[in-house]
Amino acid sequence: MNDALAPDTQPDPVTRPFEAARTCILAGEIDAKLAACATAVSAWRAVAGNDTGTGTGTEDEVEAIADDLTPGSPTELRLVAPRELVTRKLHTPQGHAALIHAICHIEFSAINLAWDAVYRFRAMPAAYYQDWVQVAEEEARHFGLLSARLAKLGYHYGDFSAHNGLWEMARETAYDPLVRMALVPRVLEARGLDVTPGIMKRLAAIGDDESVAILEIIHRDEIGHVETGTRWFHYLCEQRGLDAEATFRELLAKHMRGFPGGPLHREARCKAGFSEAELDYLEGMGQ
Ligand SMILES: [Fe+2]
Ligand SMILES: [Fe+2]
Repeated sequence: MNDALAPDTQPDPVTRPFEAARTCILAGEIDAKLAACATAVSAWRAVAGNDTGTGTGTEDEVEAIADDLTPGSPTELRLVAPRELVTRKLHTPQGHAALIHAICHIEFSAINLAWDAVYRFRAMPAAYYQDWVQVAEEEARHFGLLSARLAKLGYHYGDFSAHNGLWEMARETAYDPLVRMALVPRVLEARGLDVTPGIMKRLAAIGDDESVAILEIIHRDEIGHVETGTRWFHYLCEQRGLDAEATFRELLAKHMRGFPGGPLHREARCKAGFSEAELDYLEGMGQ
């Protein structure tokens, strides 16, 4: 190759880590996804401490990339409406595997969500990117643990249908990091904090201690992910002079009319930065 031409064909050092994030979102096959994730993590760690972001995330600085990405997924994975999903009755081997597959799909999607939080929003401080890179790395680890578990049960990621609700929320919140932080980590990922202990009980009841141990790791890490979301949501509210609790309620009313409400894992959510008032409000929704 002619070296003199190389700089024109390669992204510059500032955009390269963003491009690595995009490449991971687009990767579909499992090995390619995990390899692209590791490459993107390295690309970001190499620029840690640099001013990767260009601003502070104030309202007039918001710079969201208008790139309507469709994340890659394994060729055999069929995305369907939630009502078309297989019911997951744990007393059959197939139902048991379908449940693990469903969580596997959430983790695969969570890799995309973490990289999209990095890729899409360009006016955030450097620490924001490093935080979401760490989340992406942990989501890939969660996915790896669950897909290995699924393989032990005789199945692979892609063997069951899945729905695309998580990415739809990424699309809906693509215009503003404040909205993304409020609704993806603080609503969708936080929902996982509520439901995971119940799933662990169901799996323990059928003697699947291996999956329970994986979900324990996931539950612990996910508190961190939601806390990261809370921290950056508060940061962005402060930058814009907004009251965080009132803004969160407004965004829930605008985007989350279908929030189920009901019992929350209050202890985990408190650790993840929810206030008592927010938890009372969330529990009252859907009633
Ligand atoms: Fe996860
Ligand atoms: Fe997560």
